[in-house]
Amino acid sequence: MGRPRVIVTRRWPAAVEEALAARFDTRLNADDHPFTGEEMAEALRSADALCPTVTDSLGANLFRPGMRVRIVGNYGVGYNHIDVAAARRQGIVVTNTPGVLTDCTADLAMTLILMCARRAGEGERELRAGEWTGWRPSHMVGSRVTGKTLGIVGMGRIGQATARRARHGFGMRIACYSRSPVPRAVLDELQAKQVSELDELAAHVDFLSLHCPVTPQTHHLIDARRLALMRRTAYLINGSRGPLVDEQALADALASGRLAGAGLDVYEREPEVCDVLPGLDNVVLLPHMGSSTAETRDAMGMRVVENLDRFFAGEEPPDICV
Ligand code: DGY
Repeated sequence: MGRPRVIVTRRWPAAVEEALAARFDTRLNADDHPFTGEEMAEALRSADALCPTVTDSLGANLFRPGMRVRIVGNYGVGYNHIDVAAARRQGIVVTNTPGVLTDCTADLAMTLILMCARRAGEGERELRAGEWTGWRPSHMVGSRVTGKTLGIVGMGRIGQATARRARHGFGMRIACYSRSPVPRAVLDELQAKQVSELDELAAHVDFLSLHCPVTPQTHHLIDARRLALMRRTAYLINGSRGPLVDEQALADALASGRLAGAGLDVYEREPEVCDVLPGLDNVVLLPHMGSSTAETRDAMGMRVVENLDRFFAGEEPPDICV
């Protein structure tokens, strides 16, 4: 066999594109246009490896018998956009990029916590609009972060990294809810307690931060009922996946003052955002940029390269999605 044929669906960091081109017969996406369904289907038919990103939808309908693709090397840790079971039925391996974006994504969760509690977006908008009239005791009064309770939903790598920053950097108290038991050593280090009911966590924390994947079980995990359980002074933070939250219900809670605020990096129907949210001052809205640092974006790409290298060398790639 000659060099494996690899198709990349978006522009990737230059160093990663070079690494791919050096190893494989690589087709890059020079103008960075989002692939249509037909382009995706053609890529699956004609390449040995397809390298999509988290915005490419690869549903069951795309994985048909007789395709050439053997591996889908996803650029991203989340893979809810790929029907992994359907791929597996066609003998296709799907890989992701865990580990390398933990710190940056946790940093962004802290950014959202600080921005919404301290009204940073609102303050900057006021200043840029030329509306700042000077210091006064009653101006832009937010909520203190130090000493407050942070509830983490999903204590995987990113949930733990966020909790560590909050506990050791900001003296926050940590509580968490997770599918599986969090190791005792982790809870001890964070002086954290794990609760068995999400409702209990939602009702008792000052900040509720989501760090779990989206699955049929976690879709709209935070709905109108759970939002109503939260304290009126609480903030919801979502840097994980948009569909974890019923966005319209959140917009209603924020607009009515039922919830103090929210910090969002992800949305239900990206890149669309529920039209109420941009008009509200008590929500911080970022454009899905948790992993967006030069170092991390390079590392994500190199992780894909490693998965492909190992796969085409006849070995098991390190990051197989199950
Ligand atoms: C991921 O990797 O899943 C992020 O959402 C994008 O970096």
